Amino acid sequence: MEDKNAKQKDFWSGKGGDYWVEKQSEMDIMLNPLGEKALAKLDLKSNSEVLDIGCGCGATTLEIAKKVSEGTVTGLDISVPMLGKAESEASIQGIANVDFKVIDVQVDQLASEKYDYVYSRFGVMFFDDPYEAFKNIFSSIKEGGELSFVCWQDPSLNPWQSLSVQVIRGYLDMPSPPPRSPGPFAFHEKDYVKEILEQSGFSNISFDDNQEDITMFSGKSLQEASEDYLAINPVVTEMLKDSPDDLKAEIVESLKEAFSEFYKGDGLVFPSATWVVSASK
Ligand SMILES: C[S@@+](CC[C@H](N)C(=O)[O-])C[C@H]1O[C@@H](n2cnc3c(N)ncnc32)[C@H](O)[C@@H]1O
Repeated sequence: MEDKNAKQKDFWSGKGGDYWVEKQSEMDIMLNPLGEKALAKLDLKSNSEVLDIGCGCGATTLEIAKKVSEGTVTGLDISVPMLGKAESEASIQGIANVDFKVIDVQVDQLASEKYDYVYSRFGVMFFDDPYEAFKNIFSSIKEGGELSFVCWQDPSLNPWQSLSVQVIRGYLDMPSPPPRSPGPFAFHEKDYVKEILEQSGFSNISFDDNQEDITMFSGKSLQEASEDYLAINPVVTEMLKDSPDDLKAEIVESLKEAFSEFYKGDGLVFPSATWVVSASK
C-alpha cells in the first residue's frame, strides 16, 4: 500500500510548498480574515498551550504566540519548506514561545492531553483518513479543551475554485476527484465533518456559516493572478503536471477572461463561503 498521505507530502514538501513560501504574504492577505473568525472562537489565556495544525508558513502560529505570551504554541505540518519559513519568521520577529515540527498529524504520535486549544486555518482537509487524524487530535487535547478550525464550503459557493475548474475543463478531460478525497474541499459537507468529530469523541460541535469577500493575489495584475492560480491548488497542479507550456498559456488566457469581472485593480475579489467549526473535549 502507498504511504499514507504520500501525495500530500509530495505536494506540500515539493512544488506546492515552495509556491506557498514564495507567495506567503498574498496567501495571508486572502486567508487572514477567515482564520480570524476561527481564532475568535477560542478564549485564549496568556498561559494557554496551543496546537496549530497544518500551520504552513506559521503566520497564525506567530499571531497566537503573541496572545499566549506565557504559554507555548506548537505548529505542526508535513511541509519542510513551509516550516523552514515559519522558523525563520519566528526568529526575525524574536518570538520564542513557538515550537515547529515536521509531523503528519494523522499518522505520527502527538503529545497526549497537552493542549488547551487546537486551531487550524485550512490545514485539516488533506488527510487520507480524517477519522484517524481527528482521533489523534482529540487525544492531544486536555479534558475540557477546545478545537476551532476554518474550512471551505461547497466549491459552487467559492467561485475562485468553481469558475477556474469550469475553465480548465474546457481544455482537459478533468475527472472529478472522488467526493471527500483529500483537498481544499474535502470538508464542504457539514454532516460529514460533524460525524468525523463525533466519532473522534468531540462534543458541543458547532458550525458558523461564514460568507465574505476575499482578496486573492493582492497587488497582482490579472495576468499574474491567473498564472498563479494554476500553481496554488494541489488538485489543479496534479492535473496539469504533464501538460505542455502552450496549453497552460491558453488556459491562462481563458482564466483571465473568466476572472476579469472579479479583478478590482488590487487582485481578485471573490465571494467566499467557509465553515467555522468549533468543538470541545
Ligand atoms: C492550505 S495550507 C494552509 C496553511 C496555513 N494553515 C495557512 O493558513 O497559511 C494546508 C496545510 O496543511 C498541511 N498539511 C496537509 N496534510 C497534513 C498532515 N497530514 N499533517 C500536518 N499538516 C498537513 C500542508 O502542508 C499545508 O501547510
